[in-house]
Parts: sequence; C-alpha cells; structure tokens
Amino acid sequence: MSKQALWSGRFDGGMDESTLRFTSSLDVDSALAFYDVMGSLAHVRMLKEQDIIPVGDADEIIRGLISIVSAMEKGEFETDDSLEDIHTNIEFRLTSMIGPVGGKLHTGRSRNDQVATDLRMYLRDIILEAVMDIDTLAMSMLKVAEEHDGTIMPGFTHMQHAQPVTLAQHMMAHVFRLSRDADRLLNALDRMDRCPLGSAALAGTTYPIDRRMTAEALGFRAPTQNSIDSVSSRDNVLETVFCASMAAIDMSSVCEELILWSSQEFGFIEMADAYTTGSSIMPQKKNPDIAELIRGRTGAVIGDLVSLMTMMKGLPLSYNRDLQEDKGPVMDSMRIVSDGADMLSKVISTMEIKKDAMLRAVGKGFINATDLADYLVTKGVPFRDAHAAVGESVRYCIDNKKELEDLTIDEFRGFSPSIEEDVYDILPVKACVERRLSYGGTSSASTDMQITEAIGMIMERDERIRQETQLIEKCWDDLLKDV
Ligand code: ARG
Repeated sequence: MSKQALWSGRFDGGMDESTLRFTSSLDVDSALAFYDVMGSLAHVRMLKEQDIIPVGDADEIIRGLISIVSAMEKGEFETDDSLEDIHTNIEFRLTSMIGPVGGKLHTGRSRNDQVATDLRMYLRDIILEAVMDIDTLAMSMLKVAEEHDGTIMPGFTHMQHAQPVTLAQHMMAHVFRLSRDADRLLNALDRMDRCPLGSAALAGTTYPIDRRMTAEALGFRAPTQNSIDSVSSRDNVLETVFCASMAAIDMSSVCEELILWSSQEFGFIEMADAYTTGSSIMPQKKNPDIAELIRGRTGAVIGDLVSLMTMMKGLPLSYNRDLQEDKGPVMDSMRIVSDGADMLSKVISTMEIKKDAMLRAVGKGFINATDLADYLVTKGVPFRDAHAAVGESVRYCIDNKKELEDLTIDEFRGFSPSIEEDVYDILPVKACVERRLSYGGTSSASTDMQITEAIGMIMERDERIRQETQLIEKCWDDLLKDV
C-alpha cells in the first residue's frame, strides 16, 4: 500500500515534499503516540461491542494495536517523516501489519476528535506530573520553614526593612502560593475530564457508537456534550498554560529572592556547589545560574500562553488547522515548569542558611518601629499620634546614630510621656515576632499552624494523584488485555 493511500482517493497527484514538510506535526505529536493507540483501542473495542465492525476484524485490529504498544515500549516504533502526523503513522503501521482490515479502525471517528482526545490524556499525565514537581518544591520550602520558625530576618515592603518576620513565615508565603498553583492545575484537570472521542470530524457520526463506553475506557468522567465544541476548543490547553505561567511566575519570584540573598550585599544564603556554576574568567565567582535560568525561562512560558491565546482568538468553528499549533507551546511550558520545580527544590534543600547574617540585617532600619507604635496604643495613645511620636524618635535615632532600643527612658519620654520601663520588653525583634499571634501572622505558634495546614493540603493532593494514577493505569491495563 502506498503511503498516500490512507486518504488519497480525491487526489490525482501526490503532495509536494515541501507541503508535507510544512504541514507535518510529527515532531511534536510523537509525544502523543501512546495515548493515540489507547484511544484507538478504546474506539475499536467499542466498535466491536456495538456490532459496527465484525468481531474478527476488531480482534485483529486490537492485537495489531497491542503489538504496536509493545514495539513502542521497546523503542522499536519508528515514525516515518513522509506521513504527516502520529495518528497517520500509527494507522499506517497497523494497516501494513494486518492488511486492509486495519482501515476499519477509522470508522466513525476523525483525526479531529482523535487529536483532541489524545491531547487531553496527555495533558492529564503532564498535569499530574507538574503537580507532583510543584509539591516537591513546596515541601522543600516547608522543610526550611519547619527548621526556621526561630530564625528572624527582615520582612520587606518596597524592598525596605518593614517588620521582623521569621524565615519560616517567609518560606510559608511561597509555599501557599505554590500550593495554589498545584490546586489550580488540578482544577483545570476537572474541567477537561470529558472525552471528545466520537465527535468525529465535527458533527458526530451516523454509526451507533457508544461514547460513554469510550469515555470510561479512557478514564474520563463522561463524554463531551457537543461535537463541534469538542473538535474546536482548546480552552483546556490555554488554561493549562495559564496555570503553568502562574507557577512559573511564582517560582521566578522565589528565584529572584534566592539570587538577591546569595549576593554579597545580603549574604543570607549560600547555594551548594552542586547547584551553582563558576565563571570562565573570575575565579572567585559562584553564580546562582539555576535560579537565573528559571527566572529567565518564565518569559518563554508566558510567551507560550500569549502565542496560544493569539492563535485561538478569532478562529471560527470548528476544526481549523491552526489548532495543530497548540501542542508545542503546552509541551514546552509544562516541561519548563516541571524541570524548574525539580531543580529549584534541589537548590533549596541544599542551600546553607546564614542565620547570623539575617539577624544582623534585622538590627538595621528601625524594623521594630511599628511595635513601638503598637506599644503606645496599648498605653491609650491614638494610633495616629503614636505613629507621629515614633516617627520623630526614628528621626532622632538617625541623627544620633542609634537604634530605638539604645534610647534611654528619658530620651523616649521626650517623644511620648506614655513610654515606661516596660518598653524595653517589646523592642527586641524576637518579642516583635512572637507577639504577632494573629491567624496567619509570623509568631512561631502561627507559622506552626500554617505548616500543619500546608502539609494537609499537600497530602490531599498526593492522595488525589495516587487515585488518578491508579485509575489511568487500570484503564491502560484493561485496554491492553488480549482478546
Ligand atoms: N495533525 C493534526 C493536528 O494536530 C491532526 C488533525 C488533522 N485534521 C485535519 N482535519 N487535517 O491538529
């Protein structure tokens, strides 16, 4: 059989080689190969069950497809560049193996519903993987938090010393961000949990197919509700890449801080040799390249999102070949996020934390000024007046090169007569931190609670991933059963 023969009836001549090269998607959709065969197995088992094709033919196709999977597993499935995509490659291989009966597989379906289905199965796997990677990263930060609920550092607003916080509190801020990133990906998964297979080219099919059966066989909750929507919508891809962008942005923010913190100016951390690089010219350098690359690649992830949104904007219903361009960006962005999360978790779990440098930094910038104002409020001073009095005392300290805790009680009283000896109890940064007992605040009691909550969330996701993976594996096992 000639390669064009899969659908060459309409054409007199063959496709020009440049047309083939230009239109091919094989370089990206080869990643869908396994899912494509699984989709075909579900489809042919349904065709058999519904008496749409003879049992004997269906069985031949099933055996053929199963042997294609074993070839793939052994790395022996070679794609042929002269066939435009993975779907065509697999069908061609099947027909070459079992003869014209292989042509019955495509009864009641189209590559349009086929590719939409393959992609959803692929997304499901890469989303689960990304969630695991993001949670591994979150766990590495949570471990730092567990060890450092007594490590005090400056908390910043506008990159200026604001109030003292614990490193635990700071780390947990990132953990909750990442936790939402992971949740967001799982939510996206819920919305794509319907199977497009059986929508055929765009209008459904005249054959008495059973779409519930194929949906279930492939591990989807239900079939999609509208055939035109099914072959033309890629909101699931866009949503996934938005989730990837958000995760990339959050990781980039972590990276930016690690880069700053490892600078000589901050000196809060030192990254392990294994996860830093040297300079080709400056022998003393130890560069935070991993963090920089993650920060840099965020641009590519956001670019992937913009490219997908632009591609979809203004597309008429239903399938248009533009849609072929959806795979590259989603594969690219999810790989960047998964790899980035993996590397970043290694950087974080091996970095050295310089507690002393953090504490030294807290001593600068009148970081306990809010606490002094709050103290005055407890003595009955209105907050605005307290704010003004403390502001004056800070200016005095700057002029006289002192910190607030260096002031004598007489100096303090010059700013507010309400200040008493007990002011010295509230000024140490440790006291500032431990008095912030409000829910979500920086005291160790509060951060311990945060840690417990975050662990619970990570464990819940872990359990969901376990269940999803089990379901998917059961589907594959069933589909690969011999006839
Ligand atoms: N390679 C195509 C894609 O990825 C498969 C679907 C082709 N459908 C079509 N009508 N040409 O979108």
